[in-house]
Amino acid sequence: MSRIAYVNGAYLPHARAGVHIEDRGYQFADGVYEVCEVRHGFIVDLTRHLDRLDRSLGELRIDRPMSRAALVHVIREVLRRNRVRNGLFYLQVTRGTARRDHVFPVGATPSVVVTAKRTDAEAIARKATHGIAAITVPENRWDRVDIKSVGLLPNVLARQKAKEEGAQEAIFVDADGTVKEGAATNVWIVDRNGTLRTRPADHGILKGITRTTLMDVAVRLGLAVEERTFSVEEMLAAREVFITAATSICFPVISVDRRPIGNGHPGSIAQNIREAFFGVAEKTLI
Ligand code: PDD
Repeated sequence: MSRIAYVNGAYLPHARAGVHIEDRGYQFADGVYEVCEVRHGFIVDLTRHLDRLDRSLGELRIDRPMSRAALVHVIREVLRRNRVRNGLFYLQVTRGTARRDHVFPVGATPSVVVTAKRTDAEAIARKATHGIAAITVPENRWDRVDIKSVGLLPNVLARQKAKEEGAQEAIFVDADGTVKEGAATNVWIVDRNGTLRTRPADHGILKGITRTTLMDVAVRLGLAVEERTFSVEEMLAAREVFITAATSICFPVISVDRRPIGNGHPGSIAQNIREAFFGVAEKTLI
């Protein structure tokens, strides 16, 4: 079965789908995106993802391309046409196509792309069971990473560095030694008292949807959560470290910069959160 992509009003074979060479996403990274998990035939946390999309568009003053109802229709259609029951969809909106000029074009229509793919649930579960290795890298991104923009070059370079060093995630660290977030994940620690800690979602990090829902999961499990900055030293001394994102939900981190976290094995809190997550998250039938 061939993959189908939605591009500006048309459902096209994935291999032939494309936007114009003067799309501003291609030329200026002038666009935003969302990645949303699909599990057992349900879209996970759709409302929160679409709310964040609206916010990202608003911050960049890109017009909403269509109503929410129309967008949800397109998402469902792409998932159905690709027969995705476990996987994800990717949604991207750019300011549109126009002759190259840095200032906003007048009257350009935003470009919309929606793709979907199945993911290897077993490989993801294996990673969650074994845990992952992370490295730290100096923060070198702009200060509006709260906008889910497609401009991800520092994140790309950081992930590549992690891969070349035998790790799966790179964690950005500020000049003052405080932990920001992963290249494509939020970072959490479990401190000595068993309290979950994650950095406040001000302008320094992306406010992850998984991060937000995980706070609901913590309430369900009776776990205390603190939104407070922590240092690399505190992370290394933590009982557990884990990362969250829609693509992985929750992966235990068993080493940072080759130094073991706790006893060097995945912790039970990350595992419990992972198991409880789907039961707590919003589920929208495809
Ligand atoms: N990344 N921080 C960054 C920099 C991210 O790119 C992401 C998500 C997150 C977690 O956000 P959420 O829980 O809403 O997925 C945090 C997506 C998955 C990606 O770029 O593929």
